[in-house]
Amino acid sequence: MDCENKIAVVHNGIIENYKVLKKNLQNEGHQFRTDTDTEVLAHLIEEIHKKIDDLHKAVNESLKLVEGTYGLVVLSKEEPDKLIVARKGSPLVIGVGENENFIASDVAALVVHTKNVIYLKDNETAEVTADSFSVKTLANNFVEPVIKEIDWDISMIEKGDFDYFMQKEIFEQTDSISNAFRGRFNANLNTARLGGVNLKPEQLENIDQIVIIACGTSWHAGLIGEYMIESMARIPAKVQYASEFRYREPIINHRTLVISISQSGETADTLAAVREAKEKGARVMGITNVIGSTIARETDFGSYIHAGAEIGVASTKAFTSQLTVLFLLGWMLGRMRMLTPEIGAKYAEELIKIPEKVEEILSYDDHIKELVTSNGIPTNALYLGRGINYPVALEGALKLKEISYIHAEGYPAAEMKHGPIALIDENMPVVFIAPNDFVYDKILTNIEEVKARKGKVIAIANKDSKGIEDIADSVIYIPKTISLLSPLLTVIPLQLLAYHYAIAKNCNVDQPRNLAKSVTVE
Ligand code: AGP
Repeated sequence: MDCENKIAVVHNGIIENYKVLKKNLQNEGHQFRTDTDTEVLAHLIEEIHKKIDDLHKAVNESLKLVEGTYGLVVLSKEEPDKLIVARKGSPLVIGVGENENFIASDVAALVVHTKNVIYLKDNETAEVTADSFSVKTLANNFVEPVIKEIDWDISMIEKGDFDYFMQKEIFEQTDSISNAFRGRFNANLNTARLGGVNLKPEQLENIDQIVIIACGTSWHAGLIGEYMIESMARIPAKVQYASEFRYREPIINHRTLVISISQSGETADTLAAVREAKEKGARVMGITNVIGSTIARETDFGSYIHAGAEIGVASTKAFTSQLTVLFLLGWMLGRMRMLTPEIGAKYAEELIKIPEKVEEILSYDDHIKELVTSNGIPTNALYLGRGINYPVALEGALKLKEISYIHAEGYPAAEMKHGPIALIDENMPVVFIAPNDFVYDKILTNIEEVKARKGKVIAIANKDSKGIEDIADSVIYIPKTISLLSPLLTVIPLQLLAYHYAIAKNCNVDQPRNLAKSVTVE
């Protein structure tokens, strides 16, 4: 509520710059009752409504000052017959009824009342009464709302035009990656800015090691984060399985920054590891997707990845959003230390282009489906990568295992000669992650070693990866980017590969056997 209890807000999301806004409003005499970022919205709208009579316009003006994400509803006691709603990052839909209208963060909440919904887009706001609704942009330009008719099957509706949630979430990555970095660049300083990471340079100076704790796919994201942070910030980083960390008397103390990564924010092992780290005096950061989740509440500070609800058990869009936030973190810590603005500018330039490159890779879905159909269904598979793409090999193998039940292993490509090469014959597909980076020539040699043993090679490569088409059986070409960002692109074909193998085997892709979306038990 605002000072006069005249304006009430309901908010799903995070206001990144709430501290600055709060300070200014307190200087204007506003009294705050809570420490929440959300309360700032009520007071901000109260303040601006003093100058702008029209409540909808006042909300729009207020939101121009807000950085962060929101699914927002505003009610004024003086105009009890209308609701003002707004969306940026967090989902928000309007349910159009007979002489009644509904607002929800997800259609599942209102499908029992109406089949007609309007999905509000980012930076759109609306004025809703019992028998009317008008949609505008933040600049007060009217938007023609698109009313979509939904069938009554709740689960279906959330899938939209997709057959499975996992498929939908793979195709949402163009947006989810943008959501993960939106508003988190500082173009002037060529640095990243994670509002929730309140580490001052002198505090960072005091950090002598970074320990990343997580499970499953989040652990793979951690491995890639280790490369990013060491490369950009030159701080020693290591990754540990949360389930092992909590029982191994880890050597950590007040000079350790522990980063816990969890999509659900509820994974028992990761939560316990967070508590263990706090007990040992470490600073503990959370990187999670679920707002208000336990890990988000228990860590000292952190960043949401803003990937939106991830319903498919096999994590896909959350993984690439975790990588995006880890990249931003490495970049931010690097700029607080020795990373030059020039390199910072290069990072900004490359990261901004990632969504369109993901869009391009998603357009190769039919090619990847064809590849699966023509190659037949294997009983085993090997995934090989080098450097920052070695963990991508692990993730590719995990996706295949999880949803198609085909046994698969990921390895650093050079490790193959120390054992796994014994597995290779004409029945063993070997997926190579081979972007044209500084270890590309080494990967080519590894591919020749597999071909010499009649292995079937599927390569993920760049258009300028010379010679790959001569030795690989199938090549999936992907756009190029800098090495540190390449996992955000190289993993997408592996997600689609696993998806199409699972479909070819008639597996239940969204609810694979023996697995839960959030492992809240030890
Ligand atoms: C990944 O596809 C799996 N669902 C699983 O490995 C998952 O990553 C793991 O359980 C960790 O979950 P979290 O990110 O919610 O903590």
